[in-house]
Amino acid sequence: MSSDIASDPWFGLDPFQRNGALRDDPYPALNRVREEHPVHRTPLGDYRLFRHADVVRLLRDTKVGMRTTDGKLPGVDETIAPRRFMLQQDPPNHTRLRRLVSKGFTPPAIERLRPHVQALVDQLLDQALERATSSAAVELDVIADLARPLPATVICQMLGVPLRDRELFTDWTAQVTHLLVPRFLTEEQLQRSFGAATQLWAYMSSLVETRRKTLGDDLLSVLIRAEEAGDRLSHDELIVHGIGLLVAGFETTIGLIGNGVRQLLLHPDELAKLRARPELIVPAVEECLRFDGPIPGTQRVLHEPAEFGGIQLPINSPINVSIAAAHRDPRVFPEPDRFVIERDHSAHLAFGGGIHFCLGAHLARLEAQIAIGTLVRRAPELELASARIEWGESLFRIQARLPVRAPGMLRSV
Ligand code: HEM
Repeated sequence: MSSDIASDPWFGLDPFQRNGALRDDPYPALNRVREEHPVHRTPLGDYRLFRHADVVRLLRDTKVGMRTTDGKLPGVDETIAPRRFMLQQDPPNHTRLRRLVSKGFTPPAIERLRPHVQALVDQLLDQALERATSSAAVELDVIADLARPLPATVICQMLGVPLRDRELFTDWTAQVTHLLVPRFLTEEQLQRSFGAATQLWAYMSSLVETRRKTLGDDLLSVLIRAEEAGDRLSHDELIVHGIGLLVAGFETTIGLIGNGVRQLLLHPDELAKLRARPELIVPAVEECLRFDGPIPGTQRVLHEPAEFGGIQLPINSPINVSIAAAHRDPRVFPEPDRFVIERDHSAHLAFGGGIHFCLGAHLARLEAQIAIGTLVRRAPELELASARIEWGESLFRIQARLPVRAPGMLRSV
C-alpha cells in the first residue's frame, strides 16, 4: 500500500472526489480497502462496511433504521426540506407507505408490461436503424437511443405522465439523486439539486391535481385511490412518491442497461455464449448487476450497539455499506473480478436488502433483459465506438453516452 493511501483517512475512497480513474474503475481500490480496512470510521464520523458478510448482517440481521432512534436523518436538515420518501422512513411509517405504494406495483402488474416493453425496444432500435445511411454504417448511442428512453417511457406511461414531458425529467431526476447523500455535496451541487427538486415538486403537484379530477388506471390514480384500513397517502406523500418512483424508475435502469451493454462488449466470449443461448439473458443481467451495477452502496443507522470486524460501533452510528465491494468479495463470488454470466448470483445485493429491498426490482430486470437481449440479438456485430467512459450527472454509476457501431443490425420482425 502506498504511503499516500496509508495516511489518507478515506483510504483512497473519498466520496467528494468522484472523477477520473477511480470513477471509471473503482474496483481495485474497493478490493484493497475491503481486504485491508474492511470496517472503518470516516472523517465524517460514519462507518463504512466493505465485506459481503458484514453488509448482509447489517442489512438483514441487525437492528437498524434509516433514521436515528430519535428520528433524525444523519446529515440532513429537515427544517429546510422534510424527507418523506419511503426509503428515508423507519417502521411504522415505512411499513404504512410501502404497503400503500406496493398496491400499484405488484409483480403480475409488472409482468403484464412485457409485450409492451418488447414493442418499445424494437421501435427504439428501428428508429436508430432508420437514421443510418447504409446497413454497414449503423451507429447508435446505447444511452440516448435505448437505455434512457425505455425506462423513461415505461415509468411515464405507468404513472400517466405525458410523454412529451419526458425530456424535462432527465436532468431533474439526475440532480435529485444527490439529495440521498447531502453530506457528500458541495454547496453548489446542493443548490442545483434543491432547484431540480422544486421543479419536480411543482410538476408532480399539478399532475396530481389534474388526476384527482379524472382518475384512470395508471399508477398515480392507483396511489390516489390506495387505501388500507381507512388510511391513505396524504397530498404531499402522493407527490413525494410520484417523484420517487419517477427518479427510481428513470435513473437506475439507465445505468443497468448502459453498464451491462458495455461489460458484454468488453467480454466477447461471454457475449458469444449469450448469443448462442439467448435464455442466458436472465443470469447475464444478474451478472451485470453484480459486476458493475448502477448503485454502489446504501446506508443505515444502527439501532443497537454492534461489533463489526472487531470494532465496537455505538448505537445511532450512521453506516455506509459498499455493495460494489461486497460484489467483488472472493469469499462469496469465486474469481469475483471476472465477468462470468453462468455463476451463482443468488447472493448479490444490487437491490439492497431487508425491509427496503428495491420495490422496482422486477420491473428493472424485465426492462434490462428485454433491452439487452434484443440489442445483442438484432446487432450481431455490435462493438464499442470509443474506449472512453462518459459519466452522467447522477450520483449513481450511469453513463451519459455509450456510442456503439452496429453494422448489419436487423429490422424488427
Ligand atoms: C437497475 C435498477 C435498480 C436498482 C439497481 C435499484 C436498487 C435499489 C436499491 C439499492 C435500493 C435501496 C435498498 C436498500 O437500501 O436496502 C432501492 C430502493 C427502492 N427502489 Fe430500486 N433499483 C432499481 C430500479 C428501480 C425501479 C425501476 C423502481 C420503481 C419504478 C425502483 C423503486 C425503488 C423504491 C420505491 C425503493 C425504496 C424501497 C423502500 O424503501 O422500501 N427501483 N432500489
